[in-house]
Parts: sequence; C-alpha cells; structure tokens
Amino acid sequence: MRLILYLGKGGVGKTTLAAATAARAAQLGKRTLVVSTDLAHSLADALDRPLTAEPMQIASSLWAQEINVLEEMRTGWSKVQDYITNTLKKQGASDVAAEEMALIPGMDEIVALLNIYRQARDSNYDVVVIDAAPTGETVRLLSMPETFLWYVNQANGWKGLALNAAKPLLKTFLPGVNVLDSLAKLNDQVAALRKVLTNPDISSYRLVVNPEKMVIKEALRAETYLALYDYPIDGVVCNRVLPPPPAGGYQDALLRDMATQQRRYYEQIHSTFAPLPVWDAPYRSQEVLGAEALAALGAEIWGNTDPTQVFFRGSPQELIKRGESYLLRLPLPHVELSKVVMTKKGDELIVEVGNFKRDIALPAVLVPMEATVARMTEGALEVTFTAPAASARA
Ligand SMILES: Nc1ncnc2c1ncn2[C@@H]1O[C@H](COP(=O)(O)OP(=O)(O)OP(=O)(O)O)[C@@H](O)[C@H]1O
Ligand SMILES: [Mg+2]
Repeated sequence: MRLILYLGKGGVGKTTLAAATAARAAQLGKRTLVVSTDLAHSLADALDRPLTAEPMQIASSLWAQEINVLEEMRTGWSKVQDYITNTLKKQGASDVAAEEMALIPGMDEIVALLNIYRQARDSNYDVVVIDAAPTGETVRLLSMPETFLWYVNQANGWKGLALNAAKPLLKTFLPGVNVLDSLAKLNDQVAALRKVLTNPDISSYRLVVNPEKMVIKEALRAETYLALYDYPIDGVVCNRVLPPPPAGGYQDALLRDMATQQRRYYEQIHSTFAPLPVWDAPYRSQEVLGAEALAALGAEIWGNTDPTQVFFRGSPQELIKRGESYLLRLPLPHVELSKVVMTKKGDELIVEVGNFKRDIALPAVLVPMEATVARMTEGALEVTFTAPAASARA
C-alpha cells in the first residue's frame, strides 16, 4: 500500500493536488482512496459531489471520504480524561496530579491517524491520498505519534491504575476498534503507525507551493519539520504556473508582471528544493473541478508515469564511527544551528526546532557517551559523541 500526503500553506492547492493524484491513479487502474482530514473540508467541492464520513465510490477504482473523526475523538477522549482524573482523585491523588496524569496530548489526532491506516489496510486500497489541513496543523498531527509514545513512556506510575477504569469508555467511543483493549495495546499500535508513516516504501510526503515568496518560506519550514520527525518527502509540486509567454511576450500588463515575478520564484523553487523532484502544475483559467478534470490535471503533471510511485529517497539518519567517537547525522534542511536546541538525557537526544520537538532514541552505543560538538553541514545536523573519559582527557 502507498500513503501520500500533501502539505502546504493555506490555499496553495493541496486539495486539488491530492484529488488530482487520486483521480489519475484510479484512471491508471489503482484502487485509490482520497481522504480529507481537514476539518474545513473542501474535497467534496473539488470532486464536485457530496461526500460522507464513509468511503464512497465516485468513479472506477476511486473512493473518497471526508472524515470527522477528529471532532468525534476530541469529545470522546475528553470524557475518558475526566473519568481517569476522577478515578485517580478517588485513589487519593491531588487534583493537579490527577489532571496532569490523565492528559495525553494529541489523543484525538492519534486515533484519527490510526483509523485512516487501519481502514486503508483492511479495505485493500493500493493507494491512500490524504488531503490535509494547512502545514502547521498537519505537522502537529504528524508529531503526535512521537509525542504520544514519549508521554506513555514517561507516565509509568498511573498506567495500572487508570487502564482498567478507562476500558469500558474506550470501547464506547471506539466501538469498531476491538483491538484497543488497553492503552498499552494502543501504545503498540501507535509505535506501528509511526513505523508506517516513516517508512519510505509506504509513505511519501509532498509539498505544494506556488511561485510566491511567503508560500516558499512555509514549504521550507515544512521540509525541516518533516525531516525532524523522519517523514520521507518525495517531491514538490509547483502549482499555478503560468504558461510560457507567446512569441513577443504577454500583451496584457498584469499577466506580464505576474509572469516576471513568477519566473523568479519558480527558479528559486527548482534550485532550493533540489535534489527533490519539482513538478509543475499549470495555472488553469478555471477551477479544476470533478474527477475527470482532476485526472487530466494529474496526467498533465506526471505524464504517463504513475503519480503514486516513490520519486525520491533521501538519506535517513546516519551513524558514522570516527576513531573513538561517533557522528550522528540527522538531515534537517533549511535550518540554522542557532535555531536548534539540543539536550541529551539518558538514552534520548532531544532536538527542538521552533515549536516542534523530537526525542530521538539513541543507539545503545551512544547512551554512555557525551554529545560534545554539534554543527550544521550541508543541510544536516551533525552531533559528535565522545566517551566521557576521552573528552575529559582532551
Ligand atoms: N492549478 C490551478 N489552476 C486554477 N485553479 C486552481 C489551481 N489549483 C488550485 N486552484 C483553485 O484554487 C483554490 C484553492 O485550491 P485548494 O482548495 O486545492 O487549496 P488548498 O491548499 O487545499 O486550500 P486549503 O488550505 O484551504 O485547504 C480552489 O478554488 C482551486 O480550485
Ligand atoms: Mg484543502
């Protein structure tokens, strides 16, 4: 199965590109599902037909769905939180401690992701294309499995106490999910989910940009965050590209100005995102609506190539031995060292970029070592680890 997710600033064309990819994949014979996870759904508008919370077949090999699971979970999980809090209080925990312990951040998002994945897998789709919310919210969604795993790892003491209490409630608001007997099981599922979301053979993340300054900046930030969490990007779509001017140039002054400005950013996009492939999507004089028009747009972008193939494989995290020390290399494009905060805590390396934080589980060999030098080289954060005795000698 393939999982493709489009990211980008509000209004750049994520829904259009997700739907175009799905429609084109279906046209090429792949069993395809396109899912909207954006609460402000517009997939139905792009496909030009009403959709429901369940997958609905809308063309040969093409299904579409607008999930409202985020909302459902938000309400559902808060009930479980209240329940756990009250149970803990009865057991003698102070108010603050009980509330703190019952709070698992991002639970709703986790369940939404799990639902999409489980359904995709069980329904035998070849491809699932996700039409997500604008960048910030989607990065938050994608950072949740990591946050959740970290949290459950930390909150050891309350587990046995609260799990049994929460069980019937978990069942009530996750009726179909009978595997979720307990949070411990959920923990395993989230770990498995993260594996899928970071597996470059299954999941690909694509950035959508327009040839405009602000849009490019946001895509660069998205690229950094995706790299921080190890999510594989396999390409960039440059959407709304004006056609080349006719011989003698555009007659219309507005078009001429737009084309000149686009040219500059267009070139910047192609060079900045290299070595990722950049595909151009033409500016249409009318909105691209309906499966047929969307498939035609897909064909124009990717020609006869399958738009769901893996187009690029970046270098993952690397560990290199250098004499007695080790070098951990973490690709983090478009970030300055001054913007990275790093802390080594036991077997974890905590890397913070902006509002996002990742706890990287260190390979066993690095755990007793000290992180001595960090630097940014060619789009990667390089951290040198040295044995404490060796650094004391130095
Ligand atoms: N290449 C294109 N040519 C013409 N119109 C386009 C093109 N791409 C997108 N549009 C139109 O631009 C509008 C915004 O596109 P779309 O909804 O796909 O963006 P989005 O990134 O999903 O937005 P949001 O962040 O609100 O979800 C829509 O009306 C869409 O039909
Ligand atoms: Mg959209």
